[in-house]
Amino acid sequence: MTENLIDKAKEVLINNFQKGGFTIPSKNLYPFQWKWDSGFIAIGYAHFDMGKAKQEIKSILKAQWKNGFIPHIVFHNESDSYFPGPEVHQSELSPFAPLNIKTTGITQPPVFGFILEKLYEISLNKNEILVFIRSVIDQIYKNHIYFYENRDLFNEGLVYIYHNWESGTDNSPLWDDIWQNIDSPDYKFERKDTTHVDPSQRPSKREYDHYIHLIEIAKKYNYNDKGISDNSPFLVQDPLFNSILLRSNEALINLYKIIGNEKNKVNFLEKKLSIGIENMNKKLYNEKICAYVHYDLRNQKQVPFISSSSFAPLFCGAPDLKKLKKLISTLENKFGGKEKYLCASFDTTNSRYNPIKYWRGPIWINLNWILYNGFKRYGLNKMAKKIKNDSIELISKHGFYEYFDPRKNRAGLKKTGYGGDNFSWTAALYIDLMNDKI
Ligand code: SER
Repeated sequence: MTENLIDKAKEVLINNFQKGGFTIPSKNLYPFQWKWDSGFIAIGYAHFDMGKAKQEIKSILKAQWKNGFIPHIVFHNESDSYFPGPEVHQSELSPFAPLNIKTTGITQPPVFGFILEKLYEISLNKNEILVFIRSVIDQIYKNHIYFYENRDLFNEGLVYIYHNWESGTDNSPLWDDIWQNIDSPDYKFERKDTTHVDPSQRPSKREYDHYIHLIEIAKKYNYNDKGISDNSPFLVQDPLFNSILLRSNEALINLYKIIGNEKNKVNFLEKKLSIGIENMNKKLYNEKICAYVHYDLRNQKQVPFISSSSFAPLFCGAPDLKKLKKLISTLENKFGGKEKYLCASFDTTNSRYNPIKYWRGPIWINLNWILYNGFKRYGLNKMAKKIKNDSIELISKHGFYEYFDPRKNRAGLKKTGYGGDNFSWTAALYIDLMNDKI
């Protein structure tokens, strides 16, 4: 049974692989290459086809901009099943964008540092994987430099995002109050996502107005970072994004030490790692609600809500033991209990929680994977195991869905996997979880 499901997971990845040498997240809904998806997908491939894992990373890096920026979607191919496509994003407005390939001008969490380290761990042939890592690691380093030079306005070691799509947690209730204060036009456009998936499981039209409005502002400044940071009404420091950046810093440090003779790069990354962790604890931790939270940099205030991103700092080792204890009790009180699988994407006790709507409540396997590895890092194997087992149970019961209903045992409710089916990162991370022992 387990073997069958691992084979089925491999099949999902193989079926989503495209002629151009990259893997789509899922058919129809996401017909291009996405940045953080490609990283998680590479982890899945690494367990059975290292060549494909390398190709996935090479493929996304082909679209890296001259300033080190890595876009969140690479339009390697054409497709009319997705909105907003390349004609909306117009990456060609930036002098840094590649000339031969269309991309977006927004990014996604910087996963590739820790992905490279994960490939190194999984590989049975360390010399061979090091040849690959040597060939791409400076591109990832350059991406980190891009963030620290352009997105860390106060030298805090914490970078900002200027679009909710950059967080990866697209329509989280975290952004609701920010949207209240943005007067976006009522655009006319044709959504494609709601023709593939039940609209009750996707963001609203008004939310899409805001998403497009933020892109239009960035375009007005030709995707110039200074223009954006001076003018975008959405400027947020995200604990998930920053934890991933810091964990990737740490991974690059480890890999550069294995490679050798890279003292300057190691020093730079070490400095950013230590100041980033310090400020994550100072600025992004909320003592009252006992969790890490987002910081609205435009309006200079914390966003006092708890989401699955609130626990991501475990992944980069940010919390000390005192904070760790508090985080565990917050997780248990707000997300745990016999009636629920771990870990809902938003505080299940909050009125904004919606268990079926995209990032407003459902469980996402990539976040579970990050939390699983976070708890494992602290030796909290019981909690790590619970998150792993819940993920496996959801996938075994329902399939390789994009997201899952956190509620258990709902009489009459058979289907609780939502969004895209045969979703690549769900399959890829299932393979990794099944191979990972605690
Ligand atoms: N996840 C977004 C979408 O739904 C884009 O990154 O289209």
